[in-house]
Amino acid sequence: MRIVAAGLLCAVIAMPAFAETIVDGAAIADEVQGANWLSYGRTYSEQRFSPLSEITADNVSKLGLAWHHDLAEHKSLLATPLVVDGVMYFTGSYSVVIALDLTTRKPLWTYDPNVIEVAGERARIMWDSNRGVAYWKGNVYVATGDGRLIGLNAKTGKEIWSTMTVDPKLAYFINGAPRAFKDKIIIGNGGTEWGALRGYVTAYDAATGKQVWRFYTVPGEPAKGFEDGTQEMIAKTWTGKWWEHGGGGTVWNGLTYDPEFNRIYLGTGNGSPWNRRMRSPDGGDNLFLCSIVALDADTGKYVWHYQTVPGETWDYNSNMDMVLADLTINGKPVKAMLHAPKNGFFYVLDRADGKLISADKLINVTWATHVDMKTGRPVEAKGARYEDGEELLNPSAFGVHNWHAMSFNPMTGLTYIPIIDVAALFTDKGFNPVKWQSPNFQFDPGLDLLRDDMSLKLDASSLMAWDAVAKKKVWEVKLPGVWNPGTLSTAGNLVFQGRADGTLVAYRADTGKELWQFPTGVGLSAPPITFSVEGKQYLAILTGWGGAGVSMAGAITAQHGWAYRVHPRRLLVFGLEGSEILPPSPPPQHAQAIVKSDFKVDALLAEQGSHLFLKNCVTCHGGGAVSGGYAPDLRASPIALFLDGFREVTVAGVRRKAGMPAFRELSDSDLTAIQHYLRRQANKTVEAPAP
Ligand code: HEC
Repeated sequence: MRIVAAGLLCAVIAMPAFAETIVDGAAIADEVQGANWLSYGRTYSEQRFSPLSEITADNVSKLGLAWHHDLAEHKSLLATPLVVDGVMYFTGSYSVVIALDLTTRKPLWTYDPNVIEVAGERARIMWDSNRGVAYWKGNVYVATGDGRLIGLNAKTGKEIWSTMTVDPKLAYFINGAPRAFKDKIIIGNGGTEWGALRGYVTAYDAATGKQVWRFYTVPGEPAKGFEDGTQEMIAKTWTGKWWEHGGGGTVWNGLTYDPEFNRIYLGTGNGSPWNRRMRSPDGGDNLFLCSIVALDADTGKYVWHYQTVPGETWDYNSNMDMVLADLTINGKPVKAMLHAPKNGFFYVLDRADGKLISADKLINVTWATHVDMKTGRPVEAKGARYEDGEELLNPSAFGVHNWHAMSFNPMTGLTYIPIIDVAALFTDKGFNPVKWQSPNFQFDPGLDLLRDDMSLKLDASSLMAWDAVAKKKVWEVKLPGVWNPGTLSTAGNLVFQGRADGTLVAYRADTGKELWQFPTGVGLSAPPITFSVEGKQYLAILTGWGGAGVSMAGAITAQHGWAYRVHPRRLLVFGLEGSEILPPSPPPQHAQAIVKSDFKVDALLAEQGSHLFLKNCVTCHGGGAVSGGYAPDLRASPIALFLDGFREVTVAGVRRKAGMPAFRELSDSDLTAIQHYLRRQANKTVEAPAP
């Protein structure tokens, strides 16, 4: 009797101050609770809408910094943090997972998966960025840059299992967030620009890490036999020997679980390579590239699909978020899906059967005139496939909407979308589609991109509020630069968004009126979230500049002056009446290209160097050798001036641990060519314009 009583007493003492949330399907589906943020898009709907209403359009002017946490070791911070019962979980650089107690404001644990070590030679195809973790029944799940999926005990940060989800001999990497549903964790991958890849997603058992099912988004080699009838069906939409180039269709971002239909929706990627002439030379729609694919969540079997870009040839992928919303269209209730892929159209689909309800241009996109509502297919503009040599098209490969998540507010009925309005020249002049080979750990999408003379529009982005039912823009706010992050909307009639210039801004959700802003001291790439602790509402954002735009877009992102490792990275937490003063950040810095007067640039060598740079260096050091801030600006690097030091860093890999991979195959003459290219670019003194 006494023993039982003592046991009971212990149980009472050990009880936390509030009931522990069991994070299962019911919890993640719950739109009503606002204290926790349990999944990437907050709930399964991926709406990024919070019902919390302590912070409102009327009092947001009193929002202030409550506290901050320094993340000095980190670079790109893109993650959507999760909040479970007063503990925040997020990923920093190189898939490091951090758990922070939001009450004591102290870190609880850090888990470092040693991504650079595990990736080895593959480190050259990945960035440090990671978009976040999943949570299920007391465990946290992270997908690492090198392709592992790892389960961690949420209390201790100890590994419970780890599984490699990709073939490490191929150019796969992961920077997306896994999703949790029905005791399973699902993850895809990316990497089609660096090698012949076949896209797929895999669902793993949340408790053991054992594979439950896998679904391939493009067909494999017919002679090896198809996995099932779906693969046989989609193979009919391909021509040539597509399998030799992988096909592509990787699922590197958008994944939505729909509890109402028990389905997983995949947002699938571009072709491998982008250019259809090499991939599928006699044409074809190439299913399931650039599609939304609905799968049975228990079995991974195909249910329906909708392809946004048949026969893709521009990198107009459909990897963007797929938001679930209950809408009333023409007087009828619709279980809708909202999707704004790269191609510039805003799609509303009926989730029951995948039928297209509407598809409207968000901006003046030029690759297609419209979507034919009878066939559901885009009507391509004349010349759009750059068959006459080259074509200036909007959007560029960055898309009108990239992975920066949109949010949907059921109270205003509006979707808040970070918009990019940049055209680019598409051309495959000089490429031989018959002889072209898939790259092997080198950047080569089968067309000419990121050239030094690329026409750049440095300031062409906005935040747009789109009415999915009326099919029109309700308001739009011009944003600085091009690469602006995802949004959050709340029941306080607010929309929050960070900006490329480092300001965090609040707008009225119904009108777009700017109500509040806060300078964070570094470019923002992560979306804000909101949660409550001890009944008080907070807003949080990770500050840290990153993603493909930062690492590759050159002058487009360099213009803001968020130079490599200069500006502090942090977690910022805001509340009403918050009064903490953020320590000052250094002012924006622009690279000063070194002009070495005694270095005679050899035009031919510089041209060879430009090709080597494009294949090996551009994805981190930036288009035109102008760094957007992901890595040092090589026009300003003294190391690049002298062959010995240049070889140490580039070939021997002495900076490997800091994220500069080793390129052991580069010869001294290759390095010399790159040196000539860098000096050519420095001499142009493509000075990044001041912000
Ligand atoms: C995957 C990303 C990535 C790729 C690809 C890459 N680099 Fe780097 N590089 C980095 C990072 C990050 C650093 C900074 C490392 C540090 O902090 O010490 C760096 C540093 C350097 C430096 C030292 C600069 C200085 O002044 O400190 C040189 C030189 C360099 N890289 C050359 C190259 C060349 C040449 C290529 C292509 C052959 C290349 N890098 C490809 C990420 C990359």
